[in-house]
Amino acid sequence: MNRETICILGGTGFVGQALVNRLTHYGYDVRVLTRRRERHRSLIVNPAVRVIECNVYDQDELQRHFENCSAVINLVGILNETGGAGSFQRVHVELPLLVCRTMLASGVRRLLHMSALNADAGEQDSRYLKTKGEGEDLVHAAAADGLAVTSFRPSVIFGRDDSFFNRFAGLLKLSPLFFPLACPDSRFAPVCVIDVVEAFCRSIDMATAGERLDLCGPEVFSLRELVVYTRDQLGSRCRIIGLGDGLSRLQARLLGLAPGKPFTMDNYYSLQKESICVDNALPELGITPVPVAAVVPGYLGGRNARARYPGLRRHARRD
Ligand SMILES: NC(=O)c1ccc[n+]([C@@H]2O[C@H](COP(=O)([O-])OP(=O)(O)OC[C@H]3O[C@@H](n4cnc5c(N)ncnc54)[C@H](OP(=O)(O)O)[C@@H]3O)[C@@H](O)[C@H]2O)c1
Repeated sequence: MNRETICILGGTGFVGQALVNRLTHYGYDVRVLTRRRERHRSLIVNPAVRVIECNVYDQDELQRHFENCSAVINLVGILNETGGAGSFQRVHVELPLLVCRTMLASGVRRLLHMSALNADAGEQDSRYLKTKGEGEDLVHAAAADGLAVTSFRPSVIFGRDDSFFNRFAGLLKLSPLFFPLACPDSRFAPVCVIDVVEAFCRSIDMATAGERLDLCGPEVFSLRELVVYTRDQLGSRCRIIGLGDGLSRLQARLLGLAPGKPFTMDNYYSLQKESICVDNALPELGITPVPVAAVVPGYLGGRNARARYPGLRRHARRD
């Protein structure tokens, strides 16, 4: 049994909880750093997991928790700047930099870093993709100081607690008659959280050090196809109305002002890039990607039997 300890930042989120459970399955002890410990009781009951409340932006605290760890995993990320302007920079750039500095001070060499497909420091429009790209570049630059870094660049991730299918399901329940969908032709290759966390686990040994791994599911869908599929799963008769570019922008501007920023101009800009892999790393890691239809009906309800068949394209109703 492996008794190495891994420290995870962002281990309480959707991907994080799945990864923590998988790591303990493989025999690792896991330290999960969080801003609010009491919110994560499901992790606390796992005897191989220590959930530690701390300020992840404090180098002394980080260093204490990195002590005696064989690897650090950083999953922290935000989709919107709900914490105010500058949040993307702080979370996606300053925190990874601090993690690298602290690892070097602590003598921990192995870093697995969560980025995103299309993350690019040269991105002109989406601050999410730009700051994710800057963070990714700077953690790889730390290789020059002796860190062994692998970064992961998934397309949209699905699974029981995802914020993609579940979010659209929630919105569709609120709009039973029609649903105005921005950027309906944006394309994705949704990847299952099970495959994403398996890719992390298989990368802990040094084989992938230095690599940037794109992670995609086996199929490509437009956003409209995925939302129609979600609707069919719910057994809803809601009409999905794809918005053109002008109305998509208008929707982003308006919803960006709403509490919780459900859709923003930054999200709109991210959606202008196809979230599909040219070179999917999952097969190289020995992982056969799980299709959407094998998992999503299990948590959306699957009330429409037709929508349960694999291959959304053949079965999603036309709108
Ligand atoms: N989900 C997707 O479809 C997807 C696709 C591509 C890439 N990613 C990337 O994958 C990572 C994990 O995504 P997820 O869906 O699991 O996210 P999530 O459920 O929102 O979890 C985010 C985690 O980050 C921590 N966190 C959030 N804001 C923070 C802040 N301002 N400062 C410090 N910690 C903060 C939270 O920890 P506490 O609240 O416990 O402190 C939480 O554990 C992110 O980096 C995301 O960009 C996700």
